[in-house]
Amino acid sequence: MNVPAHYRKLVIHALTGDFRSATTVVEEPWRDPGAGEIVIRNRYAGCNAIFDKNLCRNAIRYVDVRPPYDMGIEAVGEVVAVGPGVTQWQIGDAVAHSKLGSGYREYQLADARRAIRIREASPEILTLIPTGISAMVGLERVGDVRSGETVAVSAAAGGLGHIVVQIAKLSGCHVIGLTSDARKIPLLRSLGVDRPVNLREESLAEVLQREYPRGLDVAYDSVGGEVFDTFLDHLAMRGRLVISGHTSDFDKAIENVSQPRIYRKLYWKSASVRGFQNQSFPEFFDEAAARILSLYYAGRLRPLTDPTPFTGLEHAADAVEYLLSGRNLGKVIVKL
Ligand SMILES: NC(=O)c1ccc[n+]([C@@H]2O[C@H](COP(=O)([O-])OP(=O)(O)OC[C@H]3O[C@@H](n4cnc5c(N)ncnc54)[C@H](OP(=O)(O)O)[C@@H]3O)[C@@H](O)[C@H]2O)c1
Repeated sequence: MNVPAHYRKLVIHALTGDFRSATTVVEEPWRDPGAGEIVIRNRYAGCNAIFDKNLCRNAIRYVDVRPPYDMGIEAVGEVVAVGPGVTQWQIGDAVAHSKLGSGYREYQLADARRAIRIREASPEILTLIPTGISAMVGLERVGDVRSGETVAVSAAAGGLGHIVVQIAKLSGCHVIGLTSDARKIPLLRSLGVDRPVNLREESLAEVLQREYPRGLDVAYDSVGGEVFDTFLDHLAMRGRLVISGHTSDFDKAIENVSQPRIYRKLYWKSASVRGFQNQSFPEFFDEAAARILSLYYAGRLRPLTDPTPFTGLEHAADAVEYLLSGRNLGKVIVKL
């Protein structure tokens, strides 16, 4: 087995609140896999800029970040070593793995049972595991989506959003896709969005009032702010608004808004607002991973990876800042 004595990984060394200044590359000594473990040579890691930045200010409610703290979540790569008792993995197998602290590093030790078999370690897989799983579980299990419904998706050309759009279309829905960038409109159409809305050119409230007087059956929102408010005001009878993030203000001071109490908006419509955090729904993960991979391998899902290249751990901060600028088309990837 030809393995390095040391390898590199990205850690938080100080909770500055800013990814670039909070993180640094350090070396870790190689450790042979223990019973039930494999070692993966990470080839590509997915960028989750908002989560990453929140970690750098210790603002993820279910994580207590104490530097040095290993960064990155999902990666694809190849198995380079297997521990005692591992029979299902061979050296050279392509694998996807997702766990806090496992992504932004050259090698990772993983629980062999948690690794997911893939055909090849391509960046496209990172749009599906775990991002696409979040799209699927949030839309189906939390949004309770049904064929024929009207579904609105914010940041519809983003890493999460472009998969939400496609699952909604595969479920037989009419899809309204939001963006704040004119360049993304043709892309939204090509993904199957029935009614793209450029928030810089059109008023979302006017579009919904004029073209969708019955309201939204499902609104899948990861942007928050005024988009959230508008979705809330335009839910259909028994409509469901899924909160999957609030990109527009996640690192800003909490805004106090003066509005009627929320039950005034929901009660007479039997509508609901439903929070969704993927880590709260582990029981659906395996089934969703298998289904989303089979949709992809059957050619029924089009994963979008942003073409801007970010190569090496030193460029993870560039990838994070790029995503936070809102310019990305699909999932932002770091090549390792
Ligand atoms: N609930 C969960 O389990 C879960 C899982 C994964 C991700 N998330 C959350 O989902 C959201 C999307 O994550 P992602 O990694 O896929 O990112 P992303 O959607 O690929 O990128 C963010 C997009 O948000 C839009 N945006 C709207 N307002 C923005 C603003 N003020 N600044 C920057 N961008 C803005 C931009 O698209 P337009 O220009 O097209 O508007 C931008 O491309 C994040 O909030 C993330 O934390 C939640």
